[in-house]
Amino acid sequence: MAADSVSMDQIVSLSRRRGFVFPSSEIYGGLGSTYDYGHYGVLLKNNIKARWFESMVLDRDDIVALDSAVILHPRVWEASGHVEGFTDPLVDCRTCKLRFRADKLDDSQCGRKPSKHPGAWKECDLTEPRQFNLMFETHVGPVADSASLAYLRPETAQGIFINFKNVLQLARRRPPFGIAQIGKSFRNEITPGNFLFRVREFEQMEMEFFVPPADSEQWYRYWIDARLNWYLRYGLRESRLRVREHGPEERSHYSQGTSDIEYLYPIGWSELEGVANRGDFDLTRHAEFSTTKLEYVSPDGERYVPHVIEPAVSVERIFVALLVDAYDEEVVGERERTVLRLHPQMAPVTAAILPLIGKDENMVAKARSLYEELRRRLSVEYDDNGAIGRRYRRQDEIGTPWAFTIDEQTLSDDTVTVRDRDSLAQERLQISGVRAWLEDALEREWQTPKDG
Ligand code: GAP
Repeated sequence: MAADSVSMDQIVSLSRRRGFVFPSSEIYGGLGSTYDYGHYGVLLKNNIKARWFESMVLDRDDIVALDSAVILHPRVWEASGHVEGFTDPLVDCRTCKLRFRADKLDDSQCGRKPSKHPGAWKECDLTEPRQFNLMFETHVGPVADSASLAYLRPETAQGIFINFKNVLQLARRRPPFGIAQIGKSFRNEITPGNFLFRVREFEQMEMEFFVPPADSEQWYRYWIDARLNWYLRYGLRESRLRVREHGPEERSHYSQGTSDIEYLYPIGWSELEGVANRGDFDLTRHAEFSTTKLEYVSPDGERYVPHVIEPAVSVERIFVALLVDAYDEEVVGERERTVLRLHPQMAPVTAAILPLIGKDENMVAKARSLYEELRRRLSVEYDDNGAIGRRYRRQDEIGTPWAFTIDEQTLSDDTVTVRDRDSLAQERLQISGVRAWLEDALEREWQTPKDG
């Protein structure tokens, strides 16, 4: 009975209903394609970032962390090529007054009803395309003039390149080594949309891996595999993931090779993460623009500018992919349930603690004491509100993998039942062993029970 595909509307509706994501500035009428994250959304985002950081930094010896500023020296963006080239072709419609990406007219909807693609009505009056820079401008200091012009960063990567020398010297690294960063990036997208897939403010997770030039191809392949395996490890279905290598005409100005890890979103196969071989473009350009040498000198005097391999993704694209992949509707007995079959290490709440009868003081006392014991280490939720079936379904909808129920028998023998979100199997265990059971269960390998 499991549904094997889900629409973006179902994901938006669940996110809204269960407080994962809200449209931003709603009481002022909203600000298109801008979102705020509620409690479960924050917990899910934190888990995505924690799993990425573990695999990039904590589990390895060759990558260090960085947190650079959002507003950098404006010359950074000249050196990187963003001032000149970070543009999309824009067309205006003089009739409906809307703006579109000239290269995405087939994916856009005109302002007239019934909706068609821009240019499809005889009344459509499109301007010639002009290049529109996607960087948000701001001014540093009290005077807004050309001397104080600055930008909100459109990627976190440049903050890493300009700290290459610091890390090389102070963290005493030698290639191959990497610098990883998580932080907000901003792009004034002409046509944001598809929920969180394309937004103007998003959180990037980028890692720049500096390697000897001769080894760059090998490391490029290594990182494509490593990142694909990360998605498989956290439960995305293999049939919904693929790697697509860019042709030369599609590559960015800095790229010697780029592959997208694509996911089959409800909008079709689309970029989840990009892995690029950036060559020596960035370090060479920053060396030229800043007049600071950015190179590696080996102990025997060999000098070279390392090449860079970059896996780059946003938390938002992973957030949507996880929800889409996990979403399921099924009939159990006579009742329908919506369930998020999230990997337990991604699920916002790891376990729910539920007294069977919410008004029974003894059950409540036992349940609260278990909850207090667990909450210090794990993301757990206590709920005594409503019928037990409804409480289970609330937890299913936010993807909680396990629910512990305190019932009549608990009061006599100190055992509880644990209910598995996916199989619905129940087993009894000692209340004193719940924490160890959970810590163990979290470490087990996990595979989605969904087919295909
Ligand atoms: N430093 C390289 C870089 O930024 P990119 O392909 O422009 O490359 C990297 O962006 C990743 O950032 C994408 O693969 C995607 O996951 C995410 N991303 C880019 N633009 C986005 C947007 N407007 N909204 C959400 N995520 C975005």
